Amino acid sequence: MSIEALFKPKSVAVVGASGKPGKIGYAIMKNLIEYGYEGKIYAVNVKGGEIEISGRKFQVYKSILDVPDEVDMAVIVVPAKFVPQVIEECGKKGVKVLPIISSGFGELGEEGKKVEQQLVETAHKYGMRILGPNIFGIVYTPAKLNATFGPTDVMPGKLALVSQSGALGIALMGWTILEKVGLSAVVSIGNKSDLDDADMLEYFEDDENTGAILIYMEGVKDGRKFMEVAKRVSMKKPIIIIKAGRSERGAKAAASHTGSLAGADSIYTAAFKQSGVLRALTIGEAFDWARTLSNLPEPEGDNVVILTNGGGIGVMATDAAEEEGLKLYDNLEELKVFANHMPPFGSYKNPVDLTGMAGAEAYEGAVRDALAHPEMHAIAVLYCQTAVLDPRDLAEIVIREYEASGRKKPIVVAIVGGIEAKEAIDILNERGIPAYPEPERAIKSLSALYRWYNWKMKHRKE
Ligand code: ACO
Repeated sequence: MSIEALFKPKSVAVVGASGKPGKIGYAIMKNLIEYGYEGKIYAVNVKGGEIEISGRKFQVYKSILDVPDEVDMAVIVVPAKFVPQVIEECGKKGVKVLPIISSGFGELGEEGKKVEQQLVETAHKYGMRILGPNIFGIVYTPAKLNATFGPTDVMPGKLALVSQSGALGIALMGWTILEKVGLSAVVSIGNKSDLDDADMLEYFEDDENTGAILIYMEGVKDGRKFMEVAKRVSMKKPIIIIKAGRSERGAKAAASHTGSLAGADSIYTAAFKQSGVLRALTIGEAFDWARTLSNLPEPEGDNVVILTNGGGIGVMATDAAEEEGLKLYDNLEELKVFANHMPPFGSYKNPVDLTGMAGAEAYEGAVRDALAHPEMHAIAVLYCQTAVLDPRDLAEIVIREYEASGRKKPIVVAIVGGIEAKEAIDILNERGIPAYPEPERAIKSLSALYRWYNWKMKHRKE
């Protein structure tokens, strides 16, 4: 049973669609419309009649069986007790996928788990797949699909975000908008009664719009299956996981939150390592890495070059690189090329110090030369905001040079400064060039890319 319809449905029905602002059935309709979904949208509600949302009028069908057209996806937003009957009707209608928003199933305990199991049996009888229940919905930006009750304006990009936690998932959606992290998808998997993390990995493995996958996880039901799939997918695309419930008390909290058996944390750590999964300990770290891993190509070798206008941040970046085991390129004969872009008191030793005098021309020349040099495999461009060069201009220079070079090698940027520095960071991130406000974060993200790449190289022949 393909889950293509979960990401690229030709038509979507919202069962429990509502004309009343403040209701989840209203919010989902509104997001579908306002995010620009181009397929057909149908409203289903036992009350029938007509509703108007975001300036669009909808006839309301009393049952999905009354919809005069095929329905690929039915988003279910009715109270739990009505869900079994709605699913039966969806099956008769020939619906393909069912994101079930409703809570009140497996998370309540054994009785709820049984009902949930019956939902899955009914769905499978008709060849349907269930996402959830107990979820906030699904986003797939290439199809302009936002079938969630989260924020509307998700920034399109190459990271697929999968969350077991609902509230955190919604919050992270908002956060990615603020922090300019581009997303291909957001999938709330909730109780994972049918589709789970492994199914999502399998879909994103071949999804050309996704460059990396980030999962917030509290536990897996079928650990062996997950690790097998993760190992295979890691050979193609990086996977970052935030696995909560590390401490004993945290594991107990996870058990009562999503019913997950968190298991001994050391087992997860070992299993992730074996399957090439990068484990992040905080949300900040996970998204820092995700920016780099979803947007950049693999390096073709180990040599990293740091370009900076400030000795201080150059030294800090060098410390971070050493700690992370990155190899700073040190062929002085070749590094001499940077002498063309600095005053005599600059230093072309890596970290390359273009000096505080470095303006547009110096950065343009140095970035261009580093991108063109066959032995310089990855570049970190650092900038301390000075009056000599507006950081936003630096951002444009890096974008121009990187595009002109064909985006062939990894490049990360760190800009330390004030409001213009923040704007420059946003400009770069919007264009898919990972940029950070601190040098260590840029270097650690580059290091995460190398960790994944090195794992992949090592296991290629297994
Ligand atoms: N077919 C079609 N429509 C129906 C049916 C049916 N069989 N039964 C009821 N409806 C309609 C109702 O007429 C109602 O329409 P209205 O809004 O125009 O009045 C609509 O469906 C919703 O039914 P209500 O009884 O009003 O239920 P309500 O909207 O309050 O709640 C919901 C429904 C949202 C599914 C709720 O039961 C629920 O499960 N909430 C939790 C959702 C959630 O948090 N999910 C996890 C998300 S992640 C996180 O934690 C943030």
